[in-house]
Amino acid sequence: MTAMTSSASPAQPPRTPRPPLNRRLAEFGTTIFAEMSALALKTGSINLGQGFPDTDGPEEIREAAVRALRDGRGNQYPPGPGVPELRAAIVEHQRRRYGLTFDPDTEVLVTAGATEAIAAALLGLLEPGDEVVALEPYYDSYAACIAMAGGTRVPVTLRPSEETGEGVTDRRFRLDLDELRDAVTDRTRLLLINTPHNPTGTVLTRAELTAIAELAVERDLLVVTDEVYEHLVFDDAEHLPLAAFPGMRERTVTIGSAGKTFSFTGWKVGWVTGTAELVTAVRSAKQFLTYVSSGPFQYAVAEALALPDTYFEEFRAGMRAKRDLLATGLTEAGFEVFRSAGTYFITTDIRPLGESDGFAFCRSLPERAGVVAIPNAVFYDHREAGAPFVRFAFCKRTEVLTDAAERLRKAFAH
Ligand SMILES: Cc1ncc(COP(=O)(O)O)c(C=O)c1O
Repeated sequence: MTAMTSSASPAQPPRTPRPPLNRRLAEFGTTIFAEMSALALKTGSINLGQGFPDTDGPEEIREAAVRALRDGRGNQYPPGPGVPELRAAIVEHQRRRYGLTFDPDTEVLVTAGATEAIAAALLGLLEPGDEVVALEPYYDSYAACIAMAGGTRVPVTLRPSEETGEGVTDRRFRLDLDELRDAVTDRTRLLLINTPHNPTGTVLTRAELTAIAELAVERDLLVVTDEVYEHLVFDDAEHLPLAAFPGMRERTVTIGSAGKTFSFTGWKVGWVTGTAELVTAVRSAKQFLTYVSSGPFQYAVAEALALPDTYFEEFRAGMRAKRDLLATGLTEAGFEVFRSAGTYFITTDIRPLGESDGFAFCRSLPERAGVVAIPNAVFYDHREAGAPFVRFAFCKRTEVLTDAAERLRKAFAH
């Protein structure tokens, strides 16, 4: 019937040619990480661009994955919400660390890394046209996932500010609470928060989180909070989960990941905790993305979450030493170094080097110093606000960081 009609109908006007990629994703192109990693390879540079450790996590956890694989645990589709052992371990982790209680059957969902949790949360919670207020600079998948969900991102820019404590003046990126309030409109559906914050290394303070929570309650907003660096906080900084603030448990989707905490970023085991209603919404999207993933690794991560406190303390101390090593090298080379209170990253200002364009600087850095870094401008809508900032990852072996610091000193210190 259709064929007969179409063969009888007059010639149709030619279709307007369309590029293969749809409009929602057209602005995103290839990530800067691909470009910079290719440059690192081509020039033999030390790659401090992408945030992954260059050593694996604890041997006993690797062995736990091998055991699971050999025992046939997780080699076939695991249960949709995640294996019971891991869900129980996530619940116990949230209870022991933060005093937050969740039902492992209805309030926990295991995902293919935090990346899928972010995507599923946004796809499950947003209607087209909803606004999402996100801290800028933001982790790059946020913008793409908001776009895929048909939402509109509304960035609130974190700005460098001076802080004096115990006679030491520090510069850190800070949230302007008035700007945050002003960004919320009647169309705002949710606040997308990230603490400890990639790429600035800022850990939101109790005062900042209290203000976010009060705003969310007052305007009846949902909150999606990406806390994948929860165990990577340094010095006197403390990670405070947003879900623990008054009025927040019922409106917050909290995202965690084993990748950063246990140095197994390739395993892609992440999770979501929240009320049954919120978790169901996230699961509704997640079930059609991967359905399930990482079977044997889920069992290993369940064991990892139960590691004694000494593991977490030593991991943190080791990463703090790496931060200090790289921060000293960058300072001696002439960069302005913002205090990194958490994550894998240090953000620097290149203006003291007589530079102002982070893109140009990062493209020339492999030739000039044999080091690769990332221009923070890629994490901004207001590119000019991020232009002079450059991010370096310190989750690398000590000898690699020592070599990188030496190269940077040689290239820039006078
Ligand atoms: C802020 C933030 N969220 C999420 C992720 C992704 O985590 P996963 O590897 O668990 O997907 C990253 C990884 O770099 C990150 O920095």
